[in-house]
Amino acid sequence: MTLVIDNISELITNDPELGDGPLGVVTDASVVIDDDTVLAVGPSGAVADERLDVSGRCVLPGFVDSHTHLVFAGDRAEEFTRRMAGEPYDGGGIRVTTDATRNAGRDALAASLGQRLVEVHRAGTTTVEIKTGYGLSVRSEAELASLAAEASAEATFLGAHLPPSEYQGRVDSYVELVCGPMLDAVRDRVRWIDVFCETGAFDADQSRAVLEAGRTAGLGLRLHANQLGHGPGVQLGVEMGCSSVDHCTYLSDDDIEALAASDTVATFLPATDFSTRQPYPDARRAIDAGVKVAIASNCNPGSSYTTSLSFCIAMAVRDMGMTIDEAVAAVTVGGATALGRTDVGRIAPGGPAHMTILDAPSRHHLAYRPGVPLIWRTLGADYRLSPAADPT
Ligand code: NIG
Repeated sequence: MTLVIDNISELITNDPELGDGPLGVVTDASVVIDDDTVLAVGPSGAVADERLDVSGRCVLPGFVDSHTHLVFAGDRAEEFTRRMAGEPYDGGGIRVTTDATRNAGRDALAASLGQRLVEVHRAGTTTVEIKTGYGLSVRSEAELASLAAEASAEATFLGAHLPPSEYQGRVDSYVELVCGPMLDAVRDRVRWIDVFCETGAFDADQSRAVLEAGRTAGLGLRLHANQLGHGPGVQLGVEMGCSSVDHCTYLSDDDIEALAASDTVATFLPATDFSTRQPYPDARRAIDAGVKVAIASNCNPGSSYTTSLSFCIAMAVRDMGMTIDEAVAAVTVGGATALGRTDVGRIAPGGPAHMTILDAPSRHHLAYRPGVPLIWRTLGADYRLSPAADPT
């Protein structure tokens, strides 16, 4: 059974061979799909078994959210409220969520993850990375890794999120646990390993040890870097060949030079800077220097409790010096590149039928109408969403 999505005012393919400019924009377009594969892209009026007339709406590739912490229990609304009253963010609240997560039980964690994935789908996201990192014990990290991996092929081990309370003052011992028994317990379930390289979390040597252990275990490398201040994270990430260094709120000239000369993607997380009252990163400077960039939500209960990449696009355009087209690319093909994926983040024949349909005629509305629920339909996803929960 084939379906034509017809009467599209503006189709963003991210394939310059299919349409205009780097976004490969086709106006007055149609897309023909079968169950989960794109068969054809062309002008309006293509014929198929069934027809969905989108009445002049804009269609984009499903968003690719390459940085989330979706498996956790509890929330930290009170911490957020204190922060808005002036208390600084230092990451220490990770331990509050760790206590709640350790005590929640697998069924409750699975249920809340499922609810968040419904929200992710409603937000237009069709590929999502999910990190562990609120267990911080072998048993709990293994549980979170299995939940993340059941939901998404893009599961990441973040045992090195923060040393838990019982290891305070013994960070090197905790790093040994992460690189040994904890990694052994999760390595068959996850695709990636990540570390929070920041003052108060893990220093450059500890972060390097974790990344090296992950690489030896066959995992791809990612890094939280330069979130709360300048530091060694970005350059360590480049040196280690990380697919992505994430946050990059503070970038020195040397950081930008190293990124520009590498294949490592700088993933910006502007909802975090919003929620923690950090400055926004200067994406313009990075892009002009030739750095590959992505934007992700960083959905987590502490520093960024949103799944909305539309909101992130609006901030990137308003406050990070990005054009709307750059921001749209950053949440689609940029996120895909940060995950080492060439199949998602595009709409092209042979690729997956993952699409976001806006209740608006053009991509510009994503920044022009901030806070408005513009996602009309989300088609497809490569994470597990129970049919009963699928809002489409
Ligand atoms: O990416 N920085 C480290 N991890 C998360 C924050 C987690 C939290 O505060 O619970 C982040 O912002």
